[in-house]
Amino acid sequence: MIHIGNIQLPDFPLLLAPMEDVSDPPFRAVCKANGADLMYTEFISSEGLIRDAAKSVQKLDIFEYERPIGIQLFGSDVETMGACAEIATRANPDLIDINYGCPVKNVACRGAGAALLQDIPKMVRMTEAVVKATHLPVTVKTRLGWDDNTKNVGEVAERLQDIGIKALTIHGRTRVQMYKGNADWTLIGRIKDNPRIQIPIFGNGDIDSPEKALEYKNRYGVDGVMIGRASIGHPWIFDEIKHYARTGEHRPAPTVADRVAVCRQHLDFSIRWKGEIVGLFEMRRHYANYFKGLPDFKPYRSRLVTTDSYAELGAILDEIQENYIPELV
Ligand SMILES: Cc1cc2nc3c(=O)[nH]c(=O)nc-3n(C[C@H](O)[C@H](O)[C@H](O)COP(=O)(O)O)c2cc1C
Repeated sequence: MIHIGNIQLPDFPLLLAPMEDVSDPPFRAVCKANGADLMYTEFISSEGLIRDAAKSVQKLDIFEYERPIGIQLFGSDVETMGACAEIATRANPDLIDINYGCPVKNVACRGAGAALLQDIPKMVRMTEAVVKATHLPVTVKTRLGWDDNTKNVGEVAERLQDIGIKALTIHGRTRVQMYKGNADWTLIGRIKDNPRIQIPIFGNGDIDSPEKALEYKNRYGVDGVMIGRASIGHPWIFDEIKHYARTGEHRPAPTVADRVAVCRQHLDFSIRWKGEIVGLFEMRRHYANYFKGLPDFKPYRSRLVTTDSYAELGAILDEIQENYIPELV
């Protein structure tokens, strides 16, 4: 068992990464149904939340069946982050996560996300403010450091553990790398080996197959892995890893009928949660991922991303299911 404060997780838990515009409740529902052990909201701007901005407030919505679930916050101001930790706590998640990893300009260049890797004293103060503001376990997600010359996540791990965070997830890239190149887990492994570190260390970056998850578990000794991009259009990855870990064999790949069924669930939840117009529109980014690899899929994709009619979407999904005969795919 792995513990994050009072939260119990199975051995080697599989975490769904927080992903803006992706890991909303509809997507989380399909990941939960397919084996994700711990999930997070998309990151929530503390500046937005403190101003009661609708977009930020909506991201606080969580559901009972999602537990354990964390709300992720980011920001540049220590007091605002503390105040937002109180607001987020009232939404009743299982934990509060702080984002010190986001590399994108309008976050990191405004002193939030990965920018805190350049100012560890401020990161410590901010984390302390959040820890003090909530009775919930506080976790942190960060990167190796700002750039190749300043890979300071070892110091970050020790200092944040000392002020009370209950788990740390490390994405094996620097801020400067953004999402380029391969994630380097060597330093993540070294932090796990540090006898001073008692909290769970979760590894993140480029896990896209059961083999890789197990190989990285064994090679780097992490307590669990967080999976982001590989779950988009393929939420089965969580149960696939668990099956492989248990049996040493691969589960059969999802059939076209499986893909249609999960895509439909995702679509239906999107519409229920966001309303028909926004739900239909936001779902468009997912179709190509759900049907990746199907030969000659382009015409279906074009139809899926252009129709404004829920009924027609249903008919196109039926057609996909009928026309892709399993043996031919
Ligand atoms: C579309 C997208 C949105 C993301 N949004 C967030 C976010 O809101 N908070 C966060 O901590 N990381 C965010 N990330 C980073 C992921 O959580 C994860 O660290 C990164 O994708 C590497 O993991 P992967 O190789 O398994 O995808 C995002 C990544 C992507 C691709």
